[in-house]
Amino acid sequence: MVIEKICCLGAGYVGGPTCSVIALKCPNIKVTVCDKSLERINQWNSDKLPIYEPGLDEVVKQCRGRNLFFSTDIEASILEADLIFISVNTPTKTIGNGKGRAADLKYIEGAARMIADIATSNKIVVEKSTVPVKAAEIIMKILRANTKPGVEYQILSNPEFLAEGTAIVDLVEAERVLIGGEDTPEGQKAVQELCWVYEHWIPAKNILTTNTWSSELSKLAANAFLAQRISSINSLSAVCEATGADVSEVARAVGRDSRIGPKFLEASIGFGGSCFQKDILNLIYLSECLNLPEVAAYWQQVVSLNDYQKTRFTRKVIESLFNTVADKKIAILGFSFKKNTGDTRESPAIYVCKTLLDEGAKLHIYDPKVEHEQIFYELSHPLVTNEPENVRKNIQIHETAYSAVAGAHALVLCTEWDEFKTLDYKKIYEVMMKPAYVFDGRKILDHEALLNMGFHVQTIGKRLSRTSSIRAQGSQTMP
Ligand code: NAI
Repeated sequence: MVIEKICCLGAGYVGGPTCSVIALKCPNIKVTVCDKSLERINQWNSDKLPIYEPGLDEVVKQCRGRNLFFSTDIEASILEADLIFISVNTPTKTIGNGKGRAADLKYIEGAARMIADIATSNKIVVEKSTVPVKAAEIIMKILRANTKPGVEYQILSNPEFLAEGTAIVDLVEAERVLIGGEDTPEGQKAVQELCWVYEHWIPAKNILTTNTWSSELSKLAANAFLAQRISSINSLSAVCEATGADVSEVARAVGRDSRIGPKFLEASIGFGGSCFQKDILNLIYLSECLNLPEVAAYWQQVVSLNDYQKTRFTRKVIESLFNTVADKKIAILGFSFKKNTGDTRESPAIYVCKTLLDEGAKLHIYDPKVEHEQIFYELSHPLVTNEPENVRKNIQIHETAYSAVAGAHALVLCTEWDEFKTLDYKKIYEVMMKPAYVFDGRKILDHEALLNMGFHVQTIGKRLSRTSSIRAQGSQTMP
């Protein structure tokens, strides 16, 4: 079979960009991205896409209406497709068995049942969502138990490794594409057919093929390793603060070892995003179910350390402000979980804001890309507050960083947006309450310069004081 038509179930952060790039690189394949949400599909068909991702607008503009379509007509799209990506959400379960750890596979199951109900011809069904090992078996069981006469399914695992904020580059120049399939002639034929799609732009040497379970586990493993590096450097940031070492210098020295490498060694207030925590919890749950408690405990520590880091940073803010933030105006710069995305899922800023609100602070929040209603949504969530009606009273959202900081006791930087590096901090100092505090949760500001302007500055993994600033200044001017 030559793949002529692709359907993708789920028009989210993964389905949208991934299929847009497939449409761009495979002009002869018709790609239809479907979602149950009419609102989301309308946004994909409008000038303002539902997600912010550098380079995405251009790709969508080039392909939409040519060989890229966004639709709620799931039935028509499944019927005509040769290959169907399942790219639906797989959040952590919030109720029942495995609550708080296991992946909730209800959307995967729903998608599989839709395909089984609708399909009248052979399909290759590709699991793109991140799932626990053996999830393909669930899809397989549902499809094969409901197969219509003459219809055959092949199920592949093809996890997505893109990172939000760099999704288009990650997709266009993928370091690797991973495809897992059944070790049968039909399974291997389906693997080759999906390889053919990617080979339109990915060198064959970057396309790895494995068995289905290795492919599923590799995605969980990759995210666990990445998060583990962040927790490792964050654990050392606490040691640095206690000893006078500088975590950036330690990271530079350690990362120079080619066995370790320099990436993902930046200390911060902690990792966020929809994937790292969810996928590690998923791995922990899987390990427990497999009766591997030592393995589960090992990975649990990566999540616990991340919680510790968020708490440590927020505690530092409160303690520095004379142990009370009640009724104090605090400016929060950045709300997304990292720069170049409007995604707020599991953003460390949520924890920081929640704790400050619990302590009675008035928050003035600015983020260049997050929609205002999204901030209210996150901070009114039942897991964040029992009093959602108070949230709007105690939060003001701003259009600029300058208006957010006016009259504030402290500026708390939660996301590493580039524009925060080049703000006019002299102007900011003038409009803030004194003493004026800056808490740089991402280590992106020029701390010496801020100290010299008169700010009290705290960051992660490095002790800062006015005296060190004066010393540094003195040594620069000495002959
Ligand atoms: P998302 O929540 O942005 O999008 C999922 C979409 O699927 C939603 O719009 C939802 O309405 C839709 N949906 C659910 N059931 C459906 C059905 N039966 N038919 C049609 N549409 C349906 O989720 P996101 O971020 O795109 O993640 C999807 C999967 O990809 C998850 O498993 C995630 O772990 C994984 N992943 C996410 C990455 C990321 O950076 N966001 C990166 C790599 C993998």
